[in-house]
Amino acid sequence: MIDKRSIHSGTGSNRTGCPHRREMLVVPILLLSSIWIVGCRNGDGGQPERRGATQGKRDVWSEVANGEDIYRWRCASCHLSDGRGVPGQFPPLAGSKRTIGDPEIPVRIVLHGMAGPLAIDGVQYDRLMPGWHDQLSSHEVAAVVSYIRSAWGNRAPAIDTRTVERVMGKYPGRTSPWQVKELER
Ligand code: HEC
Repeated sequence: MIDKRSIHSGTGSNRTGCPHRREMLVVPILLLSSIWIVGCRNGDGGQPERRGATQGKRDVWSEVANGEDIYRWRCASCHLSDGRGVPGQFPPLAGSKRTIGDPEIPVRIVLHGMAGPLAIDGVQYDRLMPGWHDQLSSHEVAAVVSYIRSAWGNRAPAIDTRTVERVMGKYPGRTSPWQVKELER
């Protein structure tokens, strides 16, 4: 309502031949666009909360939101966007113990990959997941791991970049994928 009135008064002065009519139009247009931008920002900021991520801090929300994008581009082709995977080929991440347990385990899997036979709920898997250490920054690994730990009903706390860097420091130079046995040790 307010915006309409401002535009109207702008055009009104145009009719009366006001010499500053351009300026009078620019002001309400700038006002309109800033209201629109602020409105959109607020909308985006609220989304992760509605999706039910796990922790209350604002910066954690934005981490999880960023993680969702990384997941969509890097992981969903195999594990699918709903995290349910493909039985016998790509294991589900929704409800996955290795995803929501000790946070270092999903970090190791994302950094270096995973190979070899494993069974989840009676379904056998024996394929190779490639590692992402040379394609994702430690910040991105933290974001995507935080996302998979809090999406699709998973309820594990987010992790930070320091956790990823600590894991990298423990296995310097490692490039080969983890066998399930190594992850269980
Ligand atoms: C090319 C397909 C592919 C892509 C892309 C992929 N994965 Fe995987 N992922 C797999 C396979 C296959 C396994 C199981 C490997 C095995 O059989 O030992 C797996 C296993 C996992 C596991 C362990 C699940 C469990 O319960 O044991 C996690 C966690 C995981 N992936 C996360 C990710 C994340 C996060 C990404 C994106 C950064 C990703 N994966 C991208 C194929 C993929």
